[in-house]
Amino acid sequence: MAQMRITPGDLKAMKGEGKRIVALTAYDRPTAEVCEAAGVDVILVGDSLGNVLLGYETTIPVTMEEMLHHVKAVARSVQRPLVVADLPFLSYQTDAAEALRNAGRFLKEGGAQAVKLEGGDRCAETIERLVTAGVPVMGHLGYTPQSAYVLGRNVVQGRDYTAAITIVNEALALEEAGCFAVVLECVPGEVAQAVSERLTIPTIGIGAGAGCDGQILVFHDVVGWGPGAALKFVKRYADVGETLRRAVGDYARDVRAGQFPALEHTFTMPAEARVLFEQELAELDAGCGE
Ligand code: KIV
Repeated sequence: MAQMRITPGDLKAMKGEGKRIVALTAYDRPTAEVCEAAGVDVILVGDSLGNVLLGYETTIPVTMEEMLHHVKAVARSVQRPLVVADLPFLSYQTDAAEALRNAGRFLKEGGAQAVKLEGGDRCAETIERLVTAGVPVMGHLGYTPQSAYVLGRNVVQGRDYTAAITIVNEALALEEAGCFAVVLECVPGEVAQAVSERLTIPTIGIGAGAGCDGQILVFHDVVGWGPGAALKFVKRYADVGETLRRAVGDYARDVRAGQFPALEHTFTMPAEARVLFEQELAELDAGCGE
């Protein structure tokens, strides 16, 4: 029987029941299927795919078309997790109508059930417009990678008390605007806890301590496939990168040594066809030699 899809309402109920929400990024079918099999509640097709998959230095160059390509792959591959698509840089900041057009594409063409966008008060009007139109919105506060050029090397946000209070107020504004959840990225644990206690919607932390209602990490960091695994807030549960390097090295060695493909990897002709084939070849070769 098909699994029931997790809804934004289910996430709020989980917060009420004290059940922690498990979220991860995924960008393609194999990673999405692993997440679903492991019981992940929320899959974020994050614009982090720009760094992780596409080789960009930041998420800033990521386009709607690049995002859609991956949102479709993930949405086609899973039944139960809520699929959230990340609106890329300048797909929602210019005006609410543009934001609605792009968010609508993620739901209609991409098959996602919700979108995420970065920013606090400045996004409230846009969020209201999206939610009114029927688009569930996840907010994102703290370190917001699309503002990397503004934030510079200051990754941890809200370390001083005025910045911390601003984060609390912005989170309240996001709830008021209609967000169904808020990602808190790289904020001190005390700040994330204070926000989580004051919101009725769930907080999903990344580098924000254990006081959040759920946690999210980048899939590739969790499985040890890429440089992000070294970040302070990441716990690496496997060394897939090393496993892959070893496997591909072994394959290259076997090909060079003539040890792959072996007989068991090779198709053969039925015996009768082979005899006839060899006779024909012999005649062909004899004819060529005349
Ligand atoms: O793009 C992304 O993967 C994200 C998460 C890190 C929250 O925004």
